[in-house]
Amino acid sequence: MPTPYYEADGVTLHHGNSLDILPTLSQASIDAIVVDPPYEIGIASRDWDRTGIAFNVDLWSECLRVLKPGGHLLSFGHVRTHHRLAVAIEDAGFHIRDCIDWIYGQGYPGSKTQLKPAREPITVARAPFTGTERALRETTGLGGLNVEACRTDTGRWPANVLLGHSPLCTDSACITECPISELDRQSGIRTSGTGAVRTKPGHFMGNGGLGRAGDVQVTYGDTGGASRYFPIFRFESRITTRNDGERHITPKPLSLMRWLVRLVCPPGGTVLDWAAGSGTTLLAARDEGMNAVGIEMDEAHARICEHRLGEPFSPSLFSDIA
Ligand SMILES: C[S@@+](CC[C@H](N)C(=O)[O-])C[C@H]1O[C@@H](n2cnc3c(N)ncnc32)[C@H](O)[C@@H]1O
Repeated sequence: MPTPYYEADGVTLHHGNSLDILPTLSQASIDAIVVDPPYEIGIASRDWDRTGIAFNVDLWSECLRVLKPGGHLLSFGHVRTHHRLAVAIEDAGFHIRDCIDWIYGQGYPGSKTQLKPAREPITVARAPFTGTERALRETTGLGGLNVEACRTDTGRWPANVLLGHSPLCTDSACITECPISELDRQSGIRTSGTGAVRTKPGHFMGNGGLGRAGDVQVTYGDTGGASRYFPIFRFESRITTRNDGERHITPKPLSLMRWLVRLVCPPGGTVLDWAAGSGTTLLAARDEGMNAVGIEMDEAHARICEHRLGEPFSPSLFSDIA
């Protein structure tokens, strides 16, 4: 086992190449993997973003070895390259379960002939296991997603679409160009009922998905635009990832990462991020009361992680703007 670069508050950070460090971790020692690997597009001419590591089946096989059976893997990807990432994950033996889209409004098109980037896909995969999902969940907390801990702020079932506010939205106002206000403008403001009684049989969550006439359907009684059906996250400035003049150019919002680790890691479990960057996943796991193992190849990035992990715990999960 290599000497950790940083170790405190349940977080261990290794400095090195994940291809070398992952084989030193124990088999089935990790409850969930949440990773934002290189997008393999050479972002801003960075060499670390064009090594091909994200498409390396051996790397993902090591992830499968260290993950407990039934544990989940979430991996960000780029719209141009995530299909190759997903195939490598599947070829390593994971089951692909879903794809979450993180939608935001702050992207800029790379040229006058390109679309404005507004989404990043997150592959959702699971390690195979024996027995039923229910039994696994009851004994280990693995196998299923933690839906209850990740409901929207009006209590709705979490969707596989996540929305991010524009950088110009404030705590009290959402600007017109923000995807959230645009969605609500298009849908209009609606109020949903409460405790609707079914007049005809049909499909909804009740009686095993087959609703019967007379069933009372639990509804939310909330008011708002269509954005209330989706988890919503505040834009977060990149300023927090600077350290002594060094900065990471691709940090993820901390509130988004807290929601993601909560979705896949049982309370008190251990999250692995093999491409730690500025350490956002590690901070997120720590702030959610979990343990975390990170690996980062670039020492300047590892120093930023160390600096950020010295920051106080973050208080809230959701933004107070909706
Ligand atoms: C997209 S960034 C992660 C950003 C991170 N999510 C954050 O919020 O700061 C990917 C990181 O993976 C690191 N990396 C690339 N190849 C690696 C490898 N083989 N082993 C370990 N780290 C690697 C890069 O140095 C970079 O910091």
